[in-house]
Amino acid sequence: MNRRHFVLGTGAVLAAGAWLLRPSDRGSPYTEYFRTLNAELKAHGPMRPVMLIDLDRLDHNIDVVNQSVRRGGKQLRLVEKSLPSPGLLAYIAKRAGTQRLMSFHQPFLNHDAQVFPQADILIGKPLPVRSAELFYQTHKGAFDPSRQLQWLLDTPERLQQYLALAQGLGTRLRVNIELDVGLHRGGVSDNVVLGQMLTLIGANPQHLEFAGFMGYDPFVGMGVPGILGSPQALFDQVMVRYNGCVDFTRQQFGRLWREGLTLNTAGSPSYRIHEQEKLSTEVSVGTALLKPTHYDLPSLSEHVPAAFIATPVLKSTGPVNIPALDGTSRVFSWWDPNQRETFFIYGGNWMAEFESPRGLQSNDLYGRSSNQEMVNGSSAVGLNIEDQVFLRPTQSEFVLLQFGDLLAVRGGKIVETWPVYNN
Ligand SMILES: Cc1ncc(COP(=O)(O)O)c(C=O)c1O
Repeated sequence: MNRRHFVLGTGAVLAAGAWLLRPSDRGSPYTEYFRTLNAELKAHGPMRPVMLIDLDRLDHNIDVVNQSVRRGGKQLRLVEKSLPSPGLLAYIAKRAGTQRLMSFHQPFLNHDAQVFPQADILIGKPLPVRSAELFYQTHKGAFDPSRQLQWLLDTPERLQQYLALAQGLGTRLRVNIELDVGLHRGGVSDNVVLGQMLTLIGANPQHLEFAGFMGYDPFVGMGVPGILGSPQALFDQVMVRYNGCVDFTRQQFGRLWREGLTLNTAGSPSYRIHEQEKLSTEVSVGTALLKPTHYDLPSLSEHVPAAFIATPVLKSTGPVNIPALDGTSRVFSWWDPNQRETFFIYGGNWMAEFESPRGLQSNDLYGRSSNQEMVNGSSAVGLNIEDQVFLRPTQSEFVLLQFGDLLAVRGGKIVETWPVYNN
């Protein structure tokens, strides 16, 4: 919540923006959307913290992404760590018409290979070679890594390790090279190193196959301060770097170049701007489909929030009361109308921001709790015991794993439950 503070003539600072009591607020603390969800969860929910995925809103976001990808003439790759539930991924993949996944974690990768035997999987970060070895040791099923999997590699040294692994396994590994297109999170940033890697691949055709490039550029859409460059200027620099690597490879390693290479780019913040270019063949998108609060970005203005935490109020105890201060605590609720009511919710302390009813806040002085968190609000909040408090996650990876099965809702009704990945 954005709370403003006004400086009074006396020099005192008064918290403004309190959700003061209005008779019309009594008994209806929610918007219609959350009022419906509250009723549904009280009637049919598990009455513990849950992660809701709103399928109507998710459909909208999938369609927005799909239209952009089509305009750009590209393919869509779903970022599995940002949508970490096979059921959720399967739902999105079906509506979006894609089988491409980007995976970041060996246990999830093994799971994907079994649950999605038709998938085309690109690893999103260079994994230690031992992780890759573990993948092969535990892999079962029809998914064929030598056709359907690309390992992302960043240095000649790691490539050498993967070559040794391929030789040991008697197989061929497909290699996608991580490019530093401006993020400076590692990856290849000069043609000398790129040349060394391509030479090694070219010299070992039985064990290594060049599969493409990955250049990730979230800073283009993350709203870096204007002084560092407009999104367009940053994007232009990304494409100069990406083009440079492609040109170098075509000219110096023409034998390795072919139609059908994976030229991957983007992420949620930047996928839209790639409509402008024809070089890359695909964009990766995950988080934008759920739009947690950190993705309230101008580049995602067409997206709507589709994931909410819901948790019941366990206790309602009136004005804030801090241990050790006891009676003196009253000053807080006198001073700040947003501390006139105190609720203890089931769970708490998540990477999330309060969403509904409006005007709720946690209490840092009392302390945060993952078990029963204190939440304060004004008397207008109108929450009763067993009403739900709704929050929006700030990100969509780890938080989604904290609630057990995801609850999919449509039209305000629970319609499906989807297990999440095990770590
Ligand atoms: C290599 C790579 N591509 C794409 C993404 C985009 O993921 P999302 O769309 O969930 O932001 C990420 C996120 O970390 C990434 O590391």
